[in-house]
Amino acid sequence: QSLKLYNTFGFDVSAEYLVIISSVEDLKELFLTKEWHSYPHLIIGGGSNILLRRNFRGLVVVNAISGIEVISQNDNFTLIKAGAGENWHQFVLYCINKGLGGIENLSLIPGTVGAAPMQNIGAYGVEIKDTFHSLEAVELATGQLHTFNAEDCQFGYRESIFKHQFKEKYFITSVTFKLIPAEKHVLSLDYGAIKIQLKEDEIESPTIEDVSKAVIKIRQSKLPDPKEIGNSGSFFKNPTVPKEKYEELTGKYPEIPGYILNEEEVKLAAGWLIEQAGWKGYCENGVGVHAKQALVLVNYGEGNGEAVEELAKKIQDSVAEKFGVQLSPEVNFV
Ligand code: EPU
Repeated sequence: QSLKLYNTFGFDVSAEYLVIISSVEDLKELFLTKEWHSYPHLIIGGGSNILLRRNFRGLVVVNAISGIEVISQNDNFTLIKAGAGENWHQFVLYCINKGLGGIENLSLIPGTVGAAPMQNIGAYGVEIKDTFHSLEAVELATGQLHTFNAEDCQFGYRESIFKHQFKEKYFITSVTFKLIPAEKHVLSLDYGAIKIQLKEDEIESPTIEDVSKAVIKIRQSKLPDPKEIGNSGSFFKNPTVPKEKYEELTGKYPEIPGYILNEEEVKLAAGWLIEQAGWKGYCENGVGVHAKQALVLVNYGEGNGEAVEELAKKIQDSVAEKFGVQLSPEVNFV
């Protein structure tokens, strides 16, 4: 079974078995099969955050549970529940259409609703933890359905409990968000790029649609469309360094971008570090560093996962050598 259509890098590796899950019942049936008990599993949503390095000798389970449902609604908020397999961006547009605010800054992020809480997706000053209400997930070992609230999920920057303690232990079936009616919702417009885009579009009092459109324009101008050039968004996380390290770096590179997190820590822009280390636009073995955003590694069509892994290692070594900063991947290596 080819996995080419199930990973946004577009790598043509294969799996022994591939099963598409459309409902909790499908999942329960899967648990009864011999294959489930005999092979290792890999659960994927939109495949937008994985690096498939080689063929997978096991069972790939694609989460395609669909459906969007309003759970409750009052003047102040709406609880809206979406199947984990729903496309994230389509869900964002659906909510905007319904006049619900809170996730418009997260427009055009590739992947599925169910994958979003796994790594607390974020962009332009907003993370899903800000509007997250709860999620439902089936425990693989017992087949039981559990509900997790925001605190249970232990969200952090591109982090949740599902990347650590509960890694590969649960199958997320739905996610519920708490969204605010557009007229009461306070827009997040602090991110420089959004302000610039709205100004360029000559919009003074933006609506949630305007913000979504601005975000779409910004993303389209910098980030490659996975349908055209294989990629999985930011390949590395933006690293956090101690304040002293940041001060040392600003002494040497006064223009270095830094975002002060607290008294002790500063977050650096990995894209800037990679660009300064000379990698932007670099290409080898069919893979490369995107020419408009150095944080994005791309497949030019004839590359493979091992070539990306090799390139990523070289970039990490070179950034460590030049700046003394260690980059860690945001994507999951398989
Ligand atoms: N920069 C460079 N060169 C580059 C790329 C960036 O100098 O090649 C500089 C920019 O000029 C800017 C800074 O780095 O000063 C930050 O760049 P940008 O605003 O493009 O955002 P980012 O930090 O590179 C993060 C997220 C993105 C998210 C954007 C917008 C991470 C790992 N990435 O990127 O998320 O869309 O901010 O909020 O946090 C993703 O996770 O897959 C993703 C695309």
